Amino acid sequence: MLTVIEDLLSKKEVTQFTQALDKGQWLDGKHTAGSQASKVKYNQQLDDGSALAIELRNTVIRKLSGNALFMSSALPNKIYPPKFNRYQGGEHYGLHVDASVMPIPNSHQMLRTDLSATLFLSEPKTYDGGELSIETQFGLQQIKLNAGSVILYPANSLHQVNPVTKGHRTASFFWIESLVRSNDQRSMLFDLDQSIQALTVELGNNDAEVKRLTGVYHNLMRSWASC
Ligand code: NI
Repeated sequence: MLTVIEDLLSKKEVTQFTQALDKGQWLDGKHTAGSQASKVKYNQQLDDGSALAIELRNTVIRKLSGNALFMSSALPNKIYPPKFNRYQGGEHYGLHVDASVMPIPNSHQMLRTDLSATLFLSEPKTYDGGELSIETQFGLQQIKLNAGSVILYPANSLHQVNPVTKGHRTASFFWIESLVRSNDQRSMLFDLDQSIQALTVELGNNDAEVKRLTGVYHNLMRSWASC
């Protein structure tokens, strides 16, 4: 399941982010790729230790935590501290899969990557290329979202970032360990939750069947969640 979260950041927030990032300290992206990925990775990454990176990633986490669609579709247990990258002048990231388990920086914890996420920060009309190209069971999906919007996709997908041939593409990217590891189970819980939300609007949350379905949702969560 691919999930698009439109306008996680407002236009005003996107402008604040991009103005700040233009002044940021950018490093060669090869420093932070695994040995296999580094052979296909050509981009720049914001210095994770900088005050700017800390401030911006905290804002992204805060916005995610307050977003109902993100919470319902990802069912996050842990979120990797968001990183920031930039592609320009033909830079790209060739076909790869993301690492399955990662140490969370500045902690003794590990994170299993169930979902990968990209938050687009550049408006699509300001650059050419730069699509996030994801191999799915329904074929290749080419993703290029409005600035401020997020794509969530299964972290076991092969994917690449196409060369940016004009302008520059700035984004934030991160991973999520979900309470529900299986993509299929998580997808069913999301559908059920969406239906319960719609029925609650129609029938009210005192309706007996709404209560029963809500109980089913929580019982499935209880069976499937690990934390
Ligand atoms: Ni990747």
